[in-house]
Amino acid sequence: MDHRSVESFFVVVSPGLEEICAAELAALGLGPLAIEPGGITFSGRLRDLYLANLHLRTASRILVRFAEFTCSDFPELFQRGVRLPWGRFLRPEMAVTFRVTCRTSRLGHSERVAETLTDALNRALGRPLNAAGASPQLVLVRIVDDRVILSIDSTGELLHRRGYRQAVTVAPLRETLAAGVLQLLDWDGTIPLADPMCGSGSFLAEGALIARKKAPGLDRSFACMTWPGWREGLWKLLCDEARRAEVPSAVVIEGADESLEAVAAAVENCRRYGVDDQVSISCRPLTAQPVHTAAGLVICNPPYGKRLAPEADLRGFYRDLGLQLRRAYPDWRLAMICPPGELPAATGLDLRQIARLDNGGLTVGLFATGHKQQASSGKTEDSFLRCKK
Ligand SMILES: C[S@@+](CC[C@H](N)C(=O)[O-])C[C@H]1O[C@@H](n2cnc3c(N)ncnc32)[C@H](O)[C@@H]1O
Repeated sequence: MDHRSVESFFVVVSPGLEEICAAELAALGLGPLAIEPGGITFSGRLRDLYLANLHLRTASRILVRFAEFTCSDFPELFQRGVRLPWGRFLRPEMAVTFRVTCRTSRLGHSERVAETLTDALNRALGRPLNAAGASPQLVLVRIVDDRVILSIDSTGELLHRRGYRQAVTVAPLRETLAAGVLQLLDWDGTIPLADPMCGSGSFLAEGALIARKKAPGLDRSFACMTWPGWREGLWKLLCDEARRAEVPSAVVIEGADESLEAVAAAVENCRRYGVDDQVSISCRPLTAQPVHTAAGLVICNPPYGKRLAPEADLRGFYRDLGLQLRRAYPDWRLAMICPPGELPAATGLDLRQIARLDNGGLTVGLFATGHKQQASSGKTEDSFLRCKK
């Protein structure tokens, strides 16, 4: 891809994070933006593609939509395919994977579409039929009503893989979701943050990056780095600018979990993120949390679904969760992600649903109280359920 050409980009986003990701793009000066379910389209140049990969906290991947045409049979698809500008993105030695979806089209056989385009690509690049290699470049093909759209993935490994997190516990959140939740709650790193059920520490580490204004893509590689038009100098310039824009942060970020294993994972992840000097993590159940007098934001991702023992009373768990949060964080804003319905209501907290999100294929809501929570009587519940040791 040439640095002068204007391209059409599609930013793939997990459901519910589209608006927040669009706000991130706008803050980078990119646009105009068109938001659609599952993503955002905008036009830009190579620099804009690099900026998006480097800075976006909530996107999954960034595609370059490089061809669009109408086609209704395989010989024509082959002919069209041979003429596509593959050489702008691919070198002859690179392996390629086609991911095809077809809907209401005469080209309805996705495997055959992939085979035809592979043959066309090999012919165009003058390479052998079975070209294979490590880390294949992903090309997405979407065919709807005989209209074929081809996009090439500039990201490679999905953006939630910041290159930091290694240690995981049960049901870790994707980093992109954790960052999106904090931004949906308008947490900008100026008030304390606590996650008293922190698991592997996704909210804590992402919070620290937000507070320091650190670009999440600084320490990883991207698929577009292997393209013929890769501009190392431009990338380095953008990385240097991003590093200069970082700010020191002393905001309190605090995590806890009743599981020793989870705490060890969270500590290790914060160390790898380079934010362990800012984040403090302790091993204790929520019932043992002291009363926090200062105000801030509590965010948690309590257990739900299959992770609780079958006989467990989820509603009881959430009722006790509400009581304990109110006791330990009387003046804090309280927020959680969990399935919509009975559970948030069972907490007894005055929760409002802020967003509908997807957590690993499960629909969840983001729920939060207003900015100030009424102080409780201080009563604690012995029955508070321990779900995982
Ligand atoms: C769904 S996981 C959180 C995952 C986390 N958001 C992450 O990204 O890794 C729920 C966590 O709550 C913790 N937990 C459950 N009951 C608890 C309690 N009573 N007190 C403190 N932690 C608890 C579990 O040990 C588990 O790590």
